[in-house]
Amino acid sequence: MPRVVRTPAELRAALRGQPSVGLVPTMGYLHTGHATLIRAARAENAVVVLSVFVNPMQFGPKEDLARYPRDLDRDLRVAAEAGADLLFVPEAGDMYPTGFSTRVELSGVSEPLDGAARPGHFTGVATVVLKLLNLVQPARAYFGEKDWQQLAVVRRMVADLNVPVEVVGVPTVRAESGLALSSRNAYLSAEELERATVLSRALRAVQAAYAGGERDAARLRQAGLDVLATEPEAVPDYLAVVDGDMRERDAVDDDPMNRVLVAARMFGVRLIDNMPLDARQHPGGQHPGDQHPGEL
Ligand code: PAJ
Repeated sequence: MPRVVRTPAELRAALRGQPSVGLVPTMGYLHTGHATLIRAARAENAVVVLSVFVNPMQFGPKEDLARYPRDLDRDLRVAAEAGADLLFVPEAGDMYPTGFSTRVELSGVSEPLDGAARPGHFTGVATVVLKLLNLVQPARAYFGEKDWQQLAVVRRMVADLNVPVEVVGVPTVRAESGLALSSRNAYLSAEELERATVLSRALRAVQAAYAGGERDAARLRQAGLDVLATEPEAVPDYLAVVDGDMRERDAVDDDPMNRVLVAARMFGVRLIDNMPLDARQHPGGQHPGDQHPGEL
């Protein structure tokens, strides 16, 4: 079993003198997506640190902080199996002691889409990620493409602030149904999970339109919105075709960073997903070494 450390001081002591550390930041309730990040870190680093911290700063006042799923025993088993050495599980009071006054706020990439829908969210993410990078001082840190805008925000911050770490992006792990794995899927019943596949189906419709030669952003978007509209329970927040800097354009080019992103509220849960515009980048959405993950 990996060792569990609770305080920044314990963490620093445990990592002293370790040259090659990989960090996987998470909010716990681990699934196969998280395990894939851990395995990627295991393959490239001598020591793998997993952080499990439901970061209050990145939740809005009306969001699901209080009910966010938590199960440390299960997380320990998943982390052990995937090859983590150390779990850093701090308390909010250790990360944000009385008097804490600093925020890492980005403009640009953090502003549209989830940044607009969840004011302050990316400030909370950037602040906690920079703290974790400073605490662990890893050679590499692993983030999922599932949260594409978050990955862009982290890459921007690391470049802007000269943080000495390599940011590694890991492709999205999906259930066989196409649904992107997410801790928040735990809120949904089996039937609701099935109906939530409308998000990935909408993204695939945009990919199909792109593959058919469509380059007009409004028409690409409409192909996805038409699929979303077939599911009355899906209340779309946004469906956008963006470039690598999260900018929407009227016409898209063949830049491999172009991506289609979707967020929708379904059954009281906010779900997000994204895919490259060019489906050939990740054929079938699957990747070498992917297992068939369960529904969680
Ligand atoms: P969390 O939602 O727990 O996700 C932790 C990491 O796992 C993120 O980098 C996320 O993109 C990745 N991940 C989640 N689902 C995935 C999937 N299906 N396939 C591949 N990777 C997946 O994202 C956060 O936590 C937080 O914002 C955090 C970065 C830890 C800061 O608090």
